[in-house]
Amino acid sequence: MSANPIEMQNFTLMDEDEIQQRIVAAKAVLGDRLIILGHHYQREETFRHADVAGDSLKLSRSAANSKAEFIVFCGVHFMAEVADIVSRPEQIAILPDLAAGCSMADMANLANVERAWRELSEVLEPDEQITPMTYINSAADLKAFCGRHGGIVCTSTNARHVLEWAFEKREKVLFFPDQHLGRNTGFSMDIPLEEMVVWDYEQPMGGLTPEQIKNAKMILWKGFCSVHQLFTPEYIDEFTEKYPETNIISHPEASFEVCQKSDYVGSTEYIINTIRDAEPNTRWLVGTELNLVNRLHEQFKHEGKNVHFMSGTVCMCSTMFRIGPSSLLWVLENLVEGNVVNQIKVPADEAEQALLALNRMLDVSP
Ligand code: 13P
Repeated sequence: MSANPIEMQNFTLMDEDEIQQRIVAAKAVLGDRLIILGHHYQREETFRHADVAGDSLKLSRSAANSKAEFIVFCGVHFMAEVADIVSRPEQIAILPDLAAGCSMADMANLANVERAWRELSEVLEPDEQITPMTYINSAADLKAFCGRHGGIVCTSTNARHVLEWAFEKREKVLFFPDQHLGRNTGFSMDIPLEEMVVWDYEQPMGGLTPEQIKNAKMILWKGFCSVHQLFTPEYIDEFTEKYPETNIISHPEASFEVCQKSDYVGSTEYIINTIRDAEPNTRWLVGTELNLVNRLHEQFKHEGKNVHFMSGTVCMCSTMFRIGPSSLLWVLENLVEGNVVNQIKVPADEAEQALLALNRMLDVSP
């Protein structure tokens, strides 16, 4: 091991081609000791180095099944935390840029969720009547909260199966942090909109009356992904007026109105597979992050598939695709030198409880 880690600043002004070549070289030296997991939202220059590319569920499974000593996550903080929790203790999870986060995940924090649980206990018996269910886009301490209160984690792929599991356990579900995934999934299971109330974490009792809480089947945290809120039913209408043959496909983090107007709704992996398997010469309007939409366009244009972004305005999630090739190279060359930088380590007691909720999810996922 070298005495000091190589500093990041050595890489920031490096020529792009050189960075690309050195990443390939460092991967070759590390061999089976390394796995790079890449979420579909990553920018191309980083994404191309992923050994496994996938949505949140696929990447969680890859982390759980990997034997590699180093799991380098080209994704965001909560994904690297999951990799640390589901992998063996001697494996090391690394996030090349610590600023890679998810603003929606930050909309629910442990203090607010615990306060909600206490306030709900003024009206109900939460530990008997409510299953807490967190979207994987959340911090490890919230997954641990779900673990110790008989709850569970979900991703956009398995939300329906997980919700069915949650309702088998208790009559109500507290779903956080993404109200849209909760509402879209609940509605697809025939839960009426009036039985899904929104918990405003900035207000006492979530801004709800005791009656509203008692009558609700799902209590949805007031969180959202700003990128997916860009998509509107009006834009879909305008677009389909021009191109009536368009297939509409959205991620379930988009609003209820957008998902209702969509022909297909599903995770990033589902979106890719649906467009890949579609007939040639088809047109697609896609409601998810722009890097993925651009990649789909490039990948399938030779089949005459036209893939469009569902908005005239570009709003990138600057934290989701934060990891650039220079930070990836920085962590890899440090590993070659025997230095671990940017390790993500969840405290042991928290990891143990979060693992309960994650394993429940992995067990019920198809
Ligand atoms: P997927 O699991 O569909 O990849 O979603 C992750 C995510 O954060 C979407 O915004």
